[in-house]
Amino acid sequence: MGAYEPLRHHGAKLSSPTRTSVGAFFLIRAILLLLIYVVLCLALLYLLLCFSPRGSPDNAVTTLLQYITISSGDGGGGGGRCDYSEGRWVATAGHAGRYNGTECDVRGSEDCVRNGRPDTGYLDWLWQPTSCQLPAFDAAAFLAAVRGKHVAFVGDSMARNQAESLVCLLGSAFPYHLVYRDPKPRKRKFWRWAFPTHGVTVSVYWAPFLATAAGRPENYSIQHNLVYLDTLAERWSADADTMDVVVLSQGHWFWIPTIYHNGSEVIGMHNVTGLKHTDDIGLFSPYRWTLRMALERLVGSGNRTVVVATFSPSHFKKAWDDPTTCTRTRPYEEGEKEVGGIEGELRSIAMEEVATASARSGGRGSRVEVLDVTKLATMRPDGHPGVYMHRDPFARGVPERLQSDCLHFCLPGPVDTFNEILLQLLISRKQ
Ligand SMILES: *[C@@H]1O[C@H](CO)[C@@H](O)[C@H](O)[C@H]1NC(C)=O
Ligand SMILES: *[C@@H]1O[C@H](CO)[C@@H](O)[C@H](O)[C@H]1NC(C)=O
Ligand SMILES: *[C@@H]1O[C@H](CO)[C@@H](O)[C@H](O)[C@H]1NC(C)=O
Ligand SMILES: *[C@@H]1O[C@H](CO)[C@@H](O)[C@H](O)[C@H]1NC(C)=O
Ligand SMILES: *[C@@H]1O[C@H](CO)[C@@H](O)[C@H](O)[C@H]1NC(C)=O
Repeated sequence: MGAYEPLRHHGAKLSSPTRTSVGAFFLIRAILLLLIYVVLCLALLYLLLCFSPRGSPDNAVTTLLQYITISSGDGGGGGGRCDYSEGRWVATAGHAGRYNGTECDVRGSEDCVRNGRPDTGYLDWLWQPTSCQLPAFDAAAFLAAVRGKHVAFVGDSMARNQAESLVCLLGSAFPYHLVYRDPKPRKRKFWRWAFPTHGVTVSVYWAPFLATAAGRPENYSIQHNLVYLDTLAERWSADADTMDVVVLSQGHWFWIPTIYHNGSEVIGMHNVTGLKHTDDIGLFSPYRWTLRMALERLVGSGNRTVVVATFSPSHFKKAWDDPTTCTRTRPYEEGEKEVGGIEGELRSIAMEEVATASARSGGRGSRVEVLDVTKLATMRPDGHPGVYMHRDPFARGVPERLQSDCLHFCLPGPVDTFNEILLQLLISRKQ
């Protein structure tokens, strides 16, 4: 297994066959483009020289050079910004097997290898954006980009999933230690790790609505959430001034029955039965309001990078306790699966709120980015733990009912790609 291969230094290329053939593809494409370019330039030169009555050859060449300078766009990768959101998963042996989840102490239910998941093909995929390349994760480059800083993940368990992936990716190349974690597994709402070589801390703040919430988030035997749309959840908002890079990731809890408050006033609910005289306000408006409130808090003050992760969908095909509810072992093929309507709408809201917050900051102070993972996550039904959220689930035969996790990703797994993109966002120029 490629789990212990040391990570390459910044800029170095992976040398697996598929990576090479992808590289060759880009090289051939570049040569072809260059040839077309040369032919066009010669034709243009010919036109300018022969049909411009007053043009001297010198002028023609100057015009040509100007044209070349102006139009020499960046094909992605270098200084230009790449769109990582569209692309496809390409088979690349061992690409995602960069660490051992047991050694970096990931949540047990996401340690698929340890739990006995027999197929490992889900580790063999590379996200290939349509118009550029996404470099493999580079721990040295990441830590250099956030030297001396506090990187915080705020949101639901997908925020935690991504944070654990980041700690494992960094921790496979640099020393680190756990600074704090709530001792009781069911009560874990706050974690912090330190990477002393670079003075970096990474934290997770569990706040599934970003806003203050009670009810089910406090006690799972309560069937609905109580969310207060006028206040941010206490722990993360109290620490907000200490955060230099913040990744916001929420969405899944908005599906669950919820009663929404504004101060002491009930302003709406979603899917709560038996609550008279209260409108169902759905999930889109509350998702937008809570995100907006969080962005106002983070962007309005300080000088930080705020990254909003778009919705990463689950892949439950059957009942949650049917052992065959998510058993795919390959990503969807292009065209086999489209981003769902609700998921697409949540993604759009995130992009709109980021655009609004970014315009409000006016290029000064904090920078706001979208980590657009909806499409790439939609295509990975194979990357969830499924029944391998349990250790050796079939040790005593195949049970009729068994809970599956078709929401979080195995670690290592597709969520590592979220951090590959996060790194590129952090090191790209501010626009
Ligand atoms: C991962 O690490 C654990 C603990 O060191 C070890 O027991 C296990 O064999 C390792 N797994 C793999 C796949 O290397
Ligand atoms: C959780 O809620 C249930 C049902 O409302 C209640 O009986 C129980 O005491 C609560 N548990 C805690 C720890 O608050
Ligand atoms: C909550 O109430 C305040 C004050 O009346 C109002 O400005 C705000 O828009 C309300 N928020 C929501 C989400 O309705
Ligand atoms: C509302 O909740 C019920 C059961 O709690 C569920 O079957 C239904 O799909 C939910 N409806 C919506 C719109 O979320
Ligand atoms: C924000 O921080 C960046 C990098 O640390 C720095 O280049 C920039 O000048 C700072 N901007 C403000 C407004 O302080």
